[in-house]
Amino acid sequence: MKKIRIFDTTLRDGEQTPGVHVSRAHKLEIARQLERLGTDIIEAGFPAASQGDAAAVSEIAGAVGGCTVAALARAVEGDVRTAAKALENAARPRIHVFIATSDIHLEHKLKMTREDVVRRTFEAVSLARSLCEDVEFSAEDASRSDRDFLCEVLAEAVKAGAGTLNIPDTVGYAVPEDFAGLIAYVRKHTPGIDGAVISVHCHNDLGLAAANSLAAVKAGAEQVECTVNGLGERAGNAALEEIVMSLRTRADYFGCDTGIEAVQLARTSRLVSSLYGIALPKNKAVVGENAFSHESGIHQHGMLADKRTYEIMTPESVGMGGVMVLGKLSGSHAFEERLKELGYTLGKEASDACFKEFKALADRKDVTDEDIMAIVNGYLDSLGAVYELDSFQIQSGNKVRSMAMVTLSCRGASVSEAALGDGPIDAAFNAVSRLSGADNIKLEEYNIKAVTEGADALGEATVKISVDGGRYSGRGVSTDILEASIKAYVSALNKWAGR
Ligand code: KIV
Ligand code: ZN
Repeated sequence: MKKIRIFDTTLRDGEQTPGVHVSRAHKLEIARQLERLGTDIIEAGFPAASQGDAAAVSEIAGAVGGCTVAALARAVEGDVRTAAKALENAARPRIHVFIATSDIHLEHKLKMTREDVVRRTFEAVSLARSLCEDVEFSAEDASRSDRDFLCEVLAEAVKAGAGTLNIPDTVGYAVPEDFAGLIAYVRKHTPGIDGAVISVHCHNDLGLAAANSLAAVKAGAEQVECTVNGLGERAGNAALEEIVMSLRTRADYFGCDTGIEAVQLARTSRLVSSLYGIALPKNKAVVGENAFSHESGIHQHGMLADKRTYEIMTPESVGMGGVMVLGKLSGSHAFEERLKELGYTLGKEASDACFKEFKALADRKDVTDEDIMAIVNGYLDSLGAVYELDSFQIQSGNKVRSMAMVTLSCRGASVSEAALGDGPIDAAFNAVSRLSGADNIKLEEYNIKAVTEGADALGEATVKISVDGGRYSGRGVSTDILEASIKAYVSALNKWAGR
């Protein structure tokens, strides 16, 4: 059966999800799980965008050997060289060069003529090819481009050495039949395209990203770019799990499959949801909590008679299982096994530290997968931290202003500050702000939720702050909501301090 390559861009386009900022430690965990999932290509980031992105790509390139690691670059010399440098340690590197081809982008964004774009494409792809054997070229906004000009640019990219030609529907404008027609047109009218892999990259502005990608596969595309849970810029990208399970469930129609280990889909989805801080809708196709639940009596009756009456794929096939609970008698071995099953690849030091926290929690309650993920994510957040919460005391009441005294350890030294505030959380945040020395911190968002059910649940606080025009998010977990909130604020400040 023909194989469709899965190009995952959760770490690049997925990180462009509004309000999302993912730490390097979190990105590495996700990359390792994507490798386990059987992804063919992981787009690890856009190195020219920031030093943090370049460092993350370089770290992932060194850690992931089983699949190709791609880095994005605009069609400019500096970007291409920065991408090549970040990929130096990759076993299978790919430079992904892009430039827009639609008139609207040429006129208003690039301020270039069509001739400029053709020349830039040739120069940038040639340079990338001289630095890396595997080069992909993307014609941004392809679906709104003049078709003949698009083919001319793609032909230039092939001539310069691109092995993969990507046709993005950048603004989610396409509809399935029309998009399939575009792929067929490009295949027919692009000189030299036979030696290249055709790829598609669809955004979900009209909710058609998966449908457009699948129509393109039917029309001859051999690579699909997608993200776990459909995360991404604006309404997101095509969801990886939907593409994979559509091709597998309807192999009779598509006549092709991917190399994805579908049983890893649910845990990959949960890992990404928890590390990106974006909850899944319950009715999310393939991996949502309700994806395999049957409510009506008629459906339940049918399911009891024969599951195939209302089930086109089994929950087990995508790794959806019952909730597993660990208790205070669970040992480190069971805990480590559970970490692996949840998609984490922690070293001994990290797993020992998390086990200690798990034990403390297990003394008080049964520990669910969500609790474990909250513990591990909190630990990963604290790596490389400048500030750590040591202790706090708060006085509060309904007729007095709240007062907080907070002690942080800052690069090994212990520092304390007191502050007043409108309520205990405001007072504690004011004390932490004073300790940071930054005088224009603005709290943009603050949320607190229970990770699991019950009075003894772990509370997870998330905050977003802005400092000097930059936005930073943080998360904190504790059975005490004040502690969780202060940890979240400190974690956001750490991102600012380590920027
Ligand atoms: O949506 C898009 O066009 C992109 C390109 C950079 C591939 O993300
Ligand atoms: Zn995109």
